[in-house]
Amino acid sequence: MANNSSRVILITGASSGIGWATALRAGRTGAKLALVARRQEKLDELADKLRSEFRTDCLVIPTDLRRPEQAEECVLAAHRHFGRLDVLVNNAGVLIEEPFDMAAPGVVRDLVETNFWAVYHTTRTAVPLMEKQGEGHIINIGSVAGRRGIPYMALYCASKFALTGFTESLRLELEHKNIFLTLISPGGVETPMPYSVDRSKIPLGNATHRKGIPPEEVADAILRAVDKKPAEVFLPAYSKLAAVLTNTLPSLTDVIVRKVRLGRFFRWT
Ligand SMILES: NC(=O)c1ccc[n+]([C@@H]2O[C@H](COP(=O)([O-])OP(=O)(O)OC[C@H]3O[C@@H](n4cnc5c(N)ncnc54)[C@H](OP(=O)(O)O)[C@@H]3O)[C@@H](O)[C@H]2O)c1
Repeated sequence: MANNSSRVILITGASSGIGWATALRAGRTGAKLALVARRQEKLDELADKLRSEFRTDCLVIPTDLRRPEQAEECVLAAHRHFGRLDVLVNNAGVLIEEPFDMAAPGVVRDLVETNFWAVYHTTRTAVPLMEKQGEGHIINIGSVAGRRGIPYMALYCASKFALTGFTESLRLELEHKNIFLTLISPGGVETPMPYSVDRSKIPLGNATHRKGIPPEEVADAILRAVDKKPAEVFLPAYSKLAAVLTNTLPSLTDVIVRKVRLGRFFRWT
């Protein structure tokens, strides 16, 4: 893998939240950055900041990742510009949080196209380039919701479970090509995403919204993963319990999820 200062990192969803914070952390290491999202003005603002604070060599690639040809092209454009691609961070995502049958079909399609299909297309484009250069690393931003089902997040969970399975499988499928896969699975993170949904539609009982960890914590974990290439990172670390408990004690986990999410311990209370 190229060293810090010549490493090329492509970050999707760089215009906000975790992607924005990751770009700033990566810029500090001297990496070269390809910044991908739909909102060009936000990407330009980030690129200006990176250039002025860290003299980062960065490329803005406005992209709608729901479009397969655009998802493929952003990877090719980064590779054409920098001559290599060391790390692909598939971070862009959207959230649906409401009763599953209230979400409009178009919104559901957007979610699956952004949270899963886009990752498939960027990955499929990046793998042959990484194979040719002899190494590469793909970091997918999943979620604890990709390890444990949560009421009123069925559609989001489905997209993140798909990403979990895709990442776990490819990790073993691509290791002989010297391409590493890492899944980052955060719980709540304090970004615009959790505030983008209207919770008044959800019968949450007396459960209240909990403040998440800062996006910089996730960015730090992503940068550590670039160096150490772990299989999966849970943030905060104790949220791994959700994955362990759901596999070992599913009924108890139902009770906990019901309480945290719906404000009641049992089905009938
Ligand atoms: N926040 C949390 O609590 C939390 C918890 C666990 C996992 N995650 C995951 O972390 C990742 C980042 O989320 P965040 O919290 O940082 O959310 P965010 O602040 O809302 O950022 C989402 C990013 O995705 C981009 N994006 C959305 N649709 C896109 C599209 N069609 N094409 C290109 N880019 C698109 C957005 O850019 P544009 O709008 O400019 O296109 C934005 O940069 C997501 O995968 C999310 O599922 C978040």
